[in-house]
Amino acid sequence: DLDAKIMCEYELPLDEKWEFPRQSLTLGKILGEGAFGRVICAEADGIIQPGIITTVAVKMLKEGHTDDDMINLVSEMEVMKMIGMHVNIINLLGVCTKDGPLYVIVEHAIHNNLRDFLRKHEPKDPYENEMILTENHLIAFAHQIANGMRYLQSKKCIHRDLAARNVLVSKNYIMKIADFGLARDVNTHDYYQQKSDDRVPVRWMAPEALFYKLYTYQSDVWSFGILLWEIMTYGGSPYPSVPDVEKLYLLLKAGHRMECPLNCSKPVYEIMQACWDHEPAKRPQFNDLVSKLDNIILGKG
Ligand code: ADE
Repeated sequence: DLDAKIMCEYELPLDEKWEFPRQSLTLGKILGEGAFGRVICAEADGIIQPGIITTVAVKMLKEGHTDDDMINLVSEMEVMKMIGMHVNIINLLGVCTKDGPLYVIVEHAIHNNLRDFLRKHEPKDPYENEMILTENHLIAFAHQIANGMRYLQSKKCIHRDLAARNVLVSKNYIMKIADFGLARDVNTHDYYQQKSDDRVPVRWMAPEALFYKLYTYQSDVWSFGILLWEIMTYGGSPYPSVPDVEKLYLLLKAGHRMECPLNCSKPVYEIMQACWDHEPAKRPQFNDLVSKLDNIILGKG
C-alpha cells in the first residue's frame, strides 16, 4: 500500500563509480548484528577483478529500522567513500543502492575481531593453538593499528570507539580498523551509560570525553592506550579490579591508571602511560606512536 511505499523507499545518492550489481552478490551467514543493522558474509563475483569471486562483508539494515538508521548507514557509506583506501582499515569495495535494500560492501576479515582473536590465541594451551602469539606479534599488531589511526587522522577522522572489538583481523594477521565511518551522536548518553552491555565504551574513554564529551584525535590516543593494554593482556577487560562505572569515574578523577600487565615489557607499558596523560596535549600523536612501536620492534627500545 501507499503508506508502506512511502515508509520503505528512499532516494539514495546514485554513484556509478561505486555501484555493484546486486545479482553478482551471493549472501551467506550473519557475521554480526547490532540494534539497527547486520553484517552478512557474501561472495562477490567480479568486485575486485572480472571473473574472480571475493568473500566480502555486507552491511545492511534490519526489518523495522527507522529513518535515522537509514541516514546513519548512508552517512557511513559516504564517509567511507571520502576516506579512501589503506591496508589497516576495513575498506569499502562497493555499494548496491538500486532496486532493493541498501548494501554497503566492505572487506571481509577472516579472523573476526581482535579481542576474540587474542582470547583464542592466549598461550595457555599451546598444543591446541594454530599460532602462538609472542610479545613481538602483539607489538606488531599495535603498530599496524597505530598506522591505521595515523591514516584516519590524516583524513580528519575521529573514531570515538577505538577498542579491540572494533579492530578486525584479516588474512596474514593484518589489523584493520572497523566502524570508523559510523555517525556517533555524542549527545546521546544512553549508549555510554548502559552497564551490562558489551559495547559500552566508558572504559575506553579519555576523561575529557567521559566528563565533557570532548572528542579529539587525542581522546582516540587515550583509547589506543587502553587497546594496547587489551592486546598485552590477550583480550583482557580494562580495569578488571573496578566493578562499576561510578567507581571508574572516581578513580580516573583521582588519577588512577591500570598497572603494567603480566609479561608486558617496560617500554610498551610506558607507551600506555603516555597515552593516559590527563592532559590531551601531552599524549603522543598517532605519528609518534607509529615510530615508538617501530623502534621497539627494531630493538631500539
Ligand atoms: N564482522 C563485522 N564486520 C566484519 C567484517 N568486515 N569481516 C568479518 N567479520 C565482520
